Amino acid sequence: MAMETYNDVYSKPEFYWGQEPNHLCRRVVEMIFPKPKASVVDLGCGEGKDIIHFARNGFKAVGIDISKPGLQKANQWANQERLEIKTVQANLNEFNLTEMFDVVYSSGTLTYISPALRQEKFLNYKEHTNIGGLNVFNVFVEKPFIKTAPDWGTDEYFYRSGDLLNLYWDWEIVLFEEVIFDCNSSGVPHKHAMDVMITRKIK
Ligand SMILES: C[S@@+](CC[C@H](N)C(=O)[O-])C[C@H]1O[C@@H](n2cnc3c(N)ncnc32)[C@H](O)[C@@H]1O
Repeated sequence: MAMETYNDVYSKPEFYWGQEPNHLCRRVVEMIFPKPKASVVDLGCGEGKDIIHFARNGFKAVGIDISKPGLQKANQWANQERLEIKTVQANLNEFNLTEMFDVVYSSGTLTYISPALRQEKFLNYKEHTNIGGLNVFNVFVEKPFIKTAPDWGTDEYFYRSGDLLNLYWDWEIVLFEEVIFDCNSSGVPHKHAMDVMITRKIK
């Protein structure tokens, strides 16, 4: 989806992606709980449905997104619930983590990282994860039998099945699966194929 469209839909009062956390986010909370004050960064947090869930469960939560209206909405939501979150407006292609986290998390966003930068960016995420911590991602993958979504952005680039596994060959793979699901974003029914991975840094 184009940046202007994100800004547009995030500027409306309703939540474009809803307010229910992704099941992957719920799973991470269950896995990490009850570590006091675990830290998480959500790369491409949008309107905040996942960082809010992390913050509600005691995480020190940081959300990164390129969309200012998305971050404003996430902050308003956090204020309403008296939750503390930190947000940073940044383009992931130009952004590097500079502090350590227990969880580096991203849902539906890492296709915006240009393929030429991926090795470098994932290395940065790995280096800024505490020992025993997790990197948790889902990414859209290209399949010749699935049409590209109608709202696919011109600055979005598919992954290939297994790309994430290759990037994390030296970590424990806690979960890896490929799923195909229906989606109605933009109001036009379509399908996505997605690789989902939870990995743990052992040393
Ligand atoms: C499909 S949405 C997912 C949002 C959120 N993770 C969720 O599940 O609700 C993709 C998000 O990526 C953000 N985004 C797009 N390009 C980006 C970039 N280059 N850097 C940072 N964020 C970007 C958009 O603003 C949008 O919030």
